Amino acid sequence: MTTPSAPSAPAPPVPDHVPPELVHPLDQWNGPDYLADPVGYWDGVRERFRVFYSPHHGGFWCLTRYDDVHEAFQRTDLFSNRFVNIPGRPVRLLPISLDPPEHTKYRRLLNKPFSPMQIERLKARIRELAGSLTEVAGSLERFDFMDVFAARLPTQVFLQILGLPLDAEQRFLEWNYVIIHVQGGAEADARQKQANDDLGAYLTAAVAERACSPRSDLISELLPSEIDGRPLEPAEAVDMVYLLFMAGLDTVIAALAWCWRYLAEHPEQRARILEQPALIPDAVEELLRYYSFLQPTRTVTRDLEFAGVHMRAGDRLMLTPGSVGRDRRHFPHAGEVAFDRSANRHIAFGAGPHRCLGSHLARAELVIAMDEWHKRIPHYRIPEGETVRFHGGAVTGPDYLPLERLPA
Ligand code: HEM
Repeated sequence: MTTPSAPSAPAPPVPDHVPPELVHPLDQWNGPDYLADPVGYWDGVRERFRVFYSPHHGGFWCLTRYDDVHEAFQRTDLFSNRFVNIPGRPVRLLPISLDPPEHTKYRRLLNKPFSPMQIERLKARIRELAGSLTEVAGSLERFDFMDVFAARLPTQVFLQILGLPLDAEQRFLEWNYVIIHVQGGAEADARQKQANDDLGAYLTAAVAERACSPRSDLISELLPSEIDGRPLEPAEAVDMVYLLFMAGLDTVIAALAWCWRYLAEHPEQRARILEQPALIPDAVEELLRYYSFLQPTRTVTRDLEFAGVHMRAGDRLMLTPGSVGRDRRHFPHAGEVAFDRSANRHIAFGAGPHRCLGSHLARAELVIAMDEWHKRIPHYRIPEGETVRFHGGAVTGPDYLPLERLPA
């Protein structure tokens, strides 16, 4: 949920309050060194720097260690979300682009629909959707996991929650791709603007329709809510649903892909979940810790000292679950994937007031998907000669994950 930027131009000059020895050119959108191995990249910088400054994409500080990142997530007075935005849509993403106490007023409206109890009610439907997608994959010998499963399940679940028709899936897949992944140049900007306009129009119509005739879905549940004693405006409901789209699709897509890539490359670990499916929730948690692929950004609110450096008001700051998930100062044997890890307090879902609203939903999708898939497709691998391709950005993840089924 940071701003996608155009491919890196030559790095601009570094501001004079940044010590030269703390400059390190991370480009998490396009940097070949980052994209070649996002996991190893974080391991490398974390051991070299507690904090560093990258001149790319307008320049930003980057914290690398658990305690600092965890504290920064809590300190909304020092590190603001006000400037979280996306191109082509310079509006509020509610509630993520607000700081407390404004943030709390909107967030509380969404807490109930995403509570564990509500998600429990959705599980049977998620299982049905995951089951049918796996059936289709099971009829193919070779496939791109992204196309047949990873992109489709979260999109279908999103449509289900909002009460939107399943046949809108292709449009949502396209909007997700264009808005989040297309970048660089005037043509990309125009495509993004168009996709944003189309999605905005679609959601505005869905909100208007439910304002006239409520149904049993999330939008209808939101509309009668109040903010400060006045009715929630339809435009605010659109901004909230828009955020759910931005936050709830690409993240689960990436999580599924990271998990499946790991399981394809580690048959011995896959065998453990096949023998003992009750391990799946812990396996999901551990893979979320290990990969923690979403790096949010903040804006520094005033001149201050943090993590031993001087930051100025208006500086940008990246918080890095991707680095801190494997910080050995916090997690014993941080570099190992251990499905039976105890006290796995990762921050893949963030921390503090903006902690992921959809974490219960995301976990349900991942656990059910892993269970349904492995009942039907227990053996698979990345075909020889094929290479997984990654995209960078606020969310880093595979965007091509070729798999082939193997005989039992
Ligand atoms: C594995 C999947 C997911 C991961 C790793 C993830 C991660 C995160 C993180 C790190 C944040 C904090 C952002 C910040 O501090 O600026 C966040 C916030 C958020 N997430 Fe998720 N997320 C996932 C899935 C979902 C899903 C499925 C939804 C809902 C459909 C969702 C909705 C949100 C919302 C609305 C926020 C903003 C909360 C606020 O500002 O109060 N996320 N997520």
